[in-house]
Amino acid sequence: MTQTYISEIAKHLGEEVTIKGWLYNKRSSGKLGFLEIRDGSGMIQGVVSKKDVSDETWENSEKVTQESSIIVGGVPREHPKRPGVYEMDISRLEVVSIAQEYPITPKEHGVEFLMDHRHLWLRSRRQHAILRVRHEIIKAVRDFFDNNGFTLCDTPIFTPAACEGTTTLFEVDYFDEKAYLTQSGQLYNEATAAAFGKVYCFGPTFRAEKSKTRRHLTEFWMVEPEVAYAKLDDVMSLAEQFISYIVARVLENRKDELAQLERDTGKLESIVPPFPRLQYDEAVKILQEGHAKGEIEHQFEWGGDLGSPDETYLSGRYDKPVMVHRYPAAVKAFYMEPDPERPDLALCVDVLAPEGYGEVIGGGERSSSLEYLLKQIKAHDLPEEAFGWYLDLRKYGSVPHGGFGMGIERAVSWICGLEHVRETIPFPRMLNRLKP
Ligand code: 4AD
Ligand code: MG
Repeated sequence: MTQTYISEIAKHLGEEVTIKGWLYNKRSSGKLGFLEIRDGSGMIQGVVSKKDVSDETWENSEKVTQESSIIVGGVPREHPKRPGVYEMDISRLEVVSIAQEYPITPKEHGVEFLMDHRHLWLRSRRQHAILRVRHEIIKAVRDFFDNNGFTLCDTPIFTPAACEGTTTLFEVDYFDEKAYLTQSGQLYNEATAAAFGKVYCFGPTFRAEKSKTRRHLTEFWMVEPEVAYAKLDDVMSLAEQFISYIVARVLENRKDELAQLERDTGKLESIVPPFPRLQYDEAVKILQEGHAKGEIEHQFEWGGDLGSPDETYLSGRYDKPVMVHRYPAAVKAFYMEPDPERPDLALCVDVLAPEGYGEVIGGGERSSSLEYLLKQIKAHDLPEEAFGWYLDLRKYGSVPHGGFGMGIERAVSWICGLEHVRETIPFPRMLNRLKP
């Protein structure tokens, strides 16, 4: 019999169908069995009645254990009291494989235990909802750029030099040379932007982050647009359009998943342009006032980079993402264009997601000056020979340009309303987590 997916069940009410899946949960009362069946596309409750089925099917229904693989035949119908919810009267139940005692039971488990069983944990309702939202976000990301004239130009993963500072590099042997896993595709984006005008790259990026926080992974997926002739203001407009678009897409297409996650969708509905823009100087004032009022523990000094608690405090004050721009050049990457009015500031922007989530996007305008970049490469103690090709971009038709990077996992965490990024990717990689 051909297989019907549970997600398509509404089209087959009253017909005999076959579902191929796994047993999620089971209850029985005497001569009735209630089997919750999942097939990857959804879940449905099957009802098996001893008097209506063969002895074999009844015995199978009694012996199946949680997560056993099963093939079930029956007739789906709408739940008598809950419209949009479907049930199925089971007429056949075939066992494909009986599962051993399943480690994840409906009782509560600790996070480390669940992380150790991530390969199985992925089968649960909540993980399903999160990863479906992730899928929607990634699709929305691609649609946004594809529909706005951007060309996808993928960038390498083995790189000869650092993009985002030398302290978080993963070094690998590359035959007789040293290479690093990429921290960002940006430098290569700058080359492809000069070739195609508007480009984006999307792929895994790596940072040897030694800190254990709820925002940091060592391997994460980043989407990075880059636009020739874009100034900082253009980068900020692009960022707010982009974020608003993906939030709207998730609201439109992933209602059930957001409900499963008990996400307050009202908070997401207010994510529309324009977003507040806050110059770093003003952000510092707010943080210092916060300290004076006893709302933040430490005193923030002008000149420092914003830490997680600072971002949490700032972003908690807005119901939309806030765009903090013009940080001190000294705390930012070597390639940033200095503000012509205040060369100690970089023309950069961090977008901080609301509800205390903090940075989801980092970007800005890149320096188009060969002389300035040479100076910066020296000042940051970077190997000049590895940047020869990058400097060529300033020798042959240099233009102002800019872009940003958004970490997919940070976006998923915020949009789903999660506590930690570890649930936003199927197999997270963190300081103490390389398995499974
Ligand atoms: O702010 P970052 O370091 O910016 C760049 O890498 C630029 N070269 C991007 C560009 O302009 N093309 O990183 C960008 C984003 C952050 O805002 C955050 O969302 C995410 O990448 N990110 C991380 N996500 C998870 N774990 C980490 N360790 C992350 N580090 C950065
Ligand atoms: Mg950043």
